[in-house]
Amino acid sequence: MSLLEVDHLKIWDARTGRILVPDSSFCLRQGECLAIVGESGSGKSLTCRAVMRLNRSGLRQSGRIVLNGVNLSELPEKEMRKVRGRRLCMIMQNGMRAFDPSRPVGAHLRETLAVHYHWSSGEITEKLKRAMESVGLKDPPAVMRRYPHELSGGMLQRVMIALAIVLEPNIIIADEPTTALDAITQYEVVEQFVQLRSRIGSSMIFVSHDLGVVKRIADEVLVMKDGEIVERGETRDIFAGAQHPYTRYLVSSKLALNRHFMQLTGGDGVAES
Ligand SMILES: Nc1ncnc2c1ncn2[C@@H]1O[C@H](COP(=O)(O)OP(=O)(O)OP(=O)(O)O)[C@@H](O)[C@H]1O
Ligand SMILES: [Mg+2]
Repeated sequence: MSLLEVDHLKIWDARTGRILVPDSSFCLRQGECLAIVGESGSGKSLTCRAVMRLNRSGLRQSGRIVLNGVNLSELPEKEMRKVRGRRLCMIMQNGMRAFDPSRPVGAHLRETLAVHYHWSSGEITEKLKRAMESVGLKDPPAVMRRYPHELSGGMLQRVMIALAIVLEPNIIIADEPTTALDAITQYEVVEQFVQLRSRIGSSMIFVSHDLGVVKRIADEVLVMKDGEIVERGETRDIFAGAQHPYTRYLVSSKLALNRHFMQLTGGDGVAES
């Protein structure tokens, strides 16, 4: 049975009437990782934020978003706030923007956890410490005392992953969580996501431009273009025999990039992931 079902999602701009996502349906099974790929402006972030009901107020959406049998589209905002964080957790592209710049990172983490759990301050500290250590953050108390601008992009992504570990949401939505990072940190953060799945058994929606990452992490892929899902399937099928010309283009440009990389480095396929 599907954990999340998105049924005839439509998103439009209320001011101009422009339809941004005409009609998307997809589902996410328990424990599965679904990747959403597609060019810039194809509607990937709008789709993720629609599931969270976090699109800007100028945008409208219709359709059913059913999580564990509950239609989120019909929930009052107060109830939806309880779903966010506890059931659905979104990890953004830019770690810096996800945190309040005027407060230490630890204050933000504690407040988020206090909304969802009745843990004592000591319990919260202990859980955060363990989670932060498990994602390779050394000296958690020092990290928690820092302001967001005092931490690197990779560290902020790790802090968000650590928070997700403590929250144990049913679904993690990661919207290009590695694009702001350098290649080595990207690799490490992706590995953290892979481990996160196996550790807390969360299902995941993972948006990425990087087909190498998608191949590593996703069970299924949705390909979006101009607001529409133009292709979908199991990851290995998409890479082995994409049907839609646009997907074939995406896959072949990744292969071309790898060949170029190998020519430049005289490498042996390191980039072929
Ligand atoms: N608040 C908004 N008001 C009006 N149009 C918007 C708004 N947000 C996004 N759009 C439009 O919706 C389309 C899809 O945007 P979206 O951010 O979902 O793209 P994306 O696939 O996530 O792209 P990227 O890979 O660059 O992040 C774009 O044409 C964008 O201009
Ligand atoms: Mg986006």
